[in-house]
Amino acid sequence: MYEISLHPVPEAVRKHALLDNDAYLRLYQQSVEQPDAFWSEQATSFLTWFKPWDQVHRSDLKKGEAEWFKGGKLNVAYNCIDRHLEQRGDQVAIIWEGDNPAESANITYRKLHHHVSRLANVLKSRGVQKGDRVCIYMPMIPEAAYAMLACARIGAVHSVVFGGFSPDALRDRILDADCRTVITADEGVRGGKYVPLKQNVDKALKDCPKVATVVVVERTQGEIAWVEGRDLWYHEALREASEDCAPEWMDAEDPLFILYTSGSTGKPKGVLHTTGGYLLGAAMTHKYVFDYHDGDIYWCTADVGWVTGHSYIVYGPLANGGTTLVFEGVPNYPDASRFWQVIDKHQVNIFYTAPTAIRALMREGEEPVRKTSRSSLRLLGSVGEPINPEAWEWYYNVVGEKRCPIVDTWWQTETGSILITPLPGATMLKPGSATRPFFGVQPVLLDEKGHEIDGPGSGVLAIKASWPSQIRSVYGDHKRMIDTYFSAYPGYYFTGDGARRDEDGYYWITGRVDDVINVSGHRIGTAEVESALVLHDAVAEAAVVGYPHDLKGQGIYAFVTPMKGLEPSEELKKELLALVSKEIGSFAKPELIQWAPGLPKTRSGKIMRRILRKIACNELDNLGDTSTLADPSVVQSLIDKRLNQ
Ligand code: WT7
Repeated sequence: MYEISLHPVPEAVRKHALLDNDAYLRLYQQSVEQPDAFWSEQATSFLTWFKPWDQVHRSDLKKGEAEWFKGGKLNVAYNCIDRHLEQRGDQVAIIWEGDNPAESANITYRKLHHHVSRLANVLKSRGVQKGDRVCIYMPMIPEAAYAMLACARIGAVHSVVFGGFSPDALRDRILDADCRTVITADEGVRGGKYVPLKQNVDKALKDCPKVATVVVVERTQGEIAWVEGRDLWYHEALREASEDCAPEWMDAEDPLFILYTSGSTGKPKGVLHTTGGYLLGAAMTHKYVFDYHDGDIYWCTADVGWVTGHSYIVYGPLANGGTTLVFEGVPNYPDASRFWQVIDKHQVNIFYTAPTAIRALMREGEEPVRKTSRSSLRLLGSVGEPINPEAWEWYYNVVGEKRCPIVDTWWQTETGSILITPLPGATMLKPGSATRPFFGVQPVLLDEKGHEIDGPGSGVLAIKASWPSQIRSVYGDHKRMIDTYFSAYPGYYFTGDGARRDEDGYYWITGRVDDVINVSGHRIGTAEVESALVLHDAVAEAAVVGYPHDLKGQGIYAFVTPMKGLEPSEELKKELLALVSKEIGSFAKPELIQWAPGLPKTRSGKIMRRILRKIACNELDNLGDTSTLADPSVVQSLIDKRLNQ
């Protein structure tokens, strides 16, 4: 058995840190006992308000209602740019590191202001108004951040769609949010390969007649098609635009962005976040969780297409006047040393990445790490899935040379910012544990009956009080938000994760309890993959589950029943993979496809996924109750031909 080692806070870290354990305990207590006083103080110290709020907070989780700083007016772009200009106009806001190691750029706060204000004026000139939705489909270039901030500046609501999504998935998201404007680039560059972003947009827009403007950033000068009147070059439009663009003063509860994420059922949900509470959550966690000091160089390796990129590449760091690194590439290009070389090149102090990347690099051995210095590093972070203790130890010992605490941060698209996490100067670390709640966060573990579990134990993770950056709605379907997050356990926010709490009150996230699979930190709904598979004429039925995967955390295992009389083939398998790539994106392709003459079902016809999950995980000694199966012989035949032995 692997022994969990306890890592006390090193003296040097504690001395340098913004908060020690006493401060954490004191502030945490205040945050839950006198939330209004606590949050009012934080909102004043972290953000600049044009007009103060009428009421700090009002919520009723039974109804899924939450309001923070209502009546208060502020602008996110003003908070992330303008207010820093006087002190930090010449400070670097964004360090851009290209896919090609020879390419990088520094963007100061003044330059950021220049781009964002001009782009905001371009959007305005194309008729984009406060409340309008704008789709952003971009590679990891500074213009992605400019686009988000330009929307925020004029009160438009952005919907960033990850560049790995297919044209069909992009189309669905554009239509769902009724976006009339798209911001993209000619092509993206990742690991030396070109991604045809503009071409994907053109395909998606065949079914989106309402889109009137496509702003195109020139990244590669690759050949692209052009629709006169609809398409405009970013650089040309900006040249003619004025830099004078007064920020739109938004109510704290006005929408800031929509971000699509997958759940257990149906199509992806457009998670809606608002202005004041979200920005406070992002800024405050960025400062305390990453112990961000003025002058630090901070790097989060996520993509802006996911919430981690929103909160911890763009909004949190820039609200704090920080320097944030935007990386276009991938961890193993040109070679497995890239991350560590970038850290040395830009003297990165704080590094935040995902367990899947750590595991992939761990496989390459220590040499690619050891040959770099990494002496600038002070702190490491992990996010996206549970980090296995072996990967944690490698990250700690080899990458951080036992000098850098690791913050294992648990949160979700819906939570907007980090909820459970160590604080570097305060928390003793246990490899694999996200440890303790952030300020104002009240996690609970619920048993099957929905009762809170006291002390050590395991259950479903829920949150019992509102926090500023929580989800406010599912775009266009408010009821769906209430059904998904606030109905299963009335009075609580239901996370979809299971967790254990140990004798020290530390939380250990054990993974999803619903039909969501986490592949390399990408959240994928089984229902979406199933819907894609059954689109094929040769497929009668499909059931998709997750199974443990050494590198990706989880892999996708699909059980597919072909149409009667049809002989399954390797060819069909290829077609199914292509179909999933087309419908969702290639990151959602099943790892394993098993042909299933039949699927285990209850007599009422419900697929018993619990059994399929066991077969996929190769856990056969305890299949659970199979007495309700309509045809028990189906199970044995699936077991005999299982692919993960
Ligand atoms: C799901 C949310 C929010 C960051 C990116 C993912 C899993 C996230 C951790 C962690 C264990 C984690 C959970 C969660 N997850 N961070 N530190 N330890 N699990 O955002 O796509 O909304 O996915 O990711 O299962 O519910 P997301």
